[in-house]
Amino acid sequence: MADLPTKLLVFTDLHLVNQGEDIIGLDPAARFAQGLHHALSQHPDAKRLVLMGDLTHQGRTAQYERLKTLLADVPVPVSYLMGNHDNRDVFRKLFPHAETTPSGDVQEMVDLGETCLITLDTLDPNADPAHSGALTAAQLTWLQNCLAWAEGRPVLIAMHHPPVETGFPGMDGIALRDPTELRVILNDYPGLVHVICGHVHRTISGHANGLSFTILKSPCHQQPMMLGAADTDHSVDEPGAYGIVLAGPAGFVVHTEDFAIAEAATPLRDPFSG
Ligand SMILES: [Fe+2]
Repeated sequence: MADLPTKLLVFTDLHLVNQGEDIIGLDPAARFAQGLHHALSQHPDAKRLVLMGDLTHQGRTAQYERLKTLLADVPVPVSYLMGNHDNRDVFRKLFPHAETTPSGDVQEMVDLGETCLITLDTLDPNADPAHSGALTAAQLTWLQNCLAWAEGRPVLIAMHHPPVETGFPGMDGIALRDPTELRVILNDYPGLVHVICGHVHRTISGHANGLSFTILKSPCHQQPMMLGAADTDHSVDEPGAYGIVLAGPAGFVVHTEDFAIAEAATPLRDPFSG
């Protein structure tokens, strides 16, 4: 019998705010706590939790302290990524044990056995346009070294800013800047690569620019289905979600779970049980 795949739980765009504040009337901490409890109770066999950036809404100390409290009982290792709403320096002070590279970027390579997870820190505090993402030459060199160590095994790349266009021009305008070199590096890898991102606050998947990708939505507020929207300030209260990645020698299967819907659903009789 084939080995069971390695299971990862993935949350993106938590946007934690200060106590008493909200985002379009929603409490991001309550949403994340609900989703995290659902994920951990439904998937006790998960090996790792991956948080894909925009951990906080304004990068403030109190907001990272709230994150620490929310993660206090998580029984598995956590991979942290930075998003455009984060503050790398503040995060690193509060989470000194988070993996970083010598360049100071919050990113890591995780050997999952038959596969590898590589996280990339796309936060650019001086971004132009604001909120867009970037990778430095040092990060791309680090990535190339990681890919060499992966030796052809399936590789999951986790990064906050998508390296592909999504059809939302406003969000595409603040995606990863200059993605060509990253695409070339990943396209040249001799094994399978799948890219998983956040940032857009909507579930999207596809294969573009030579990359297969999945974008996950937030546990809190979402991007409405307004293809062609030229701005970025639309947020709606659609159900929050987290991702479940099954990683194995065949590659990666990405599920999404709308946890509030799942909790409210009434279990039905199995129609195949006779
Ligand atoms: Fe976000």
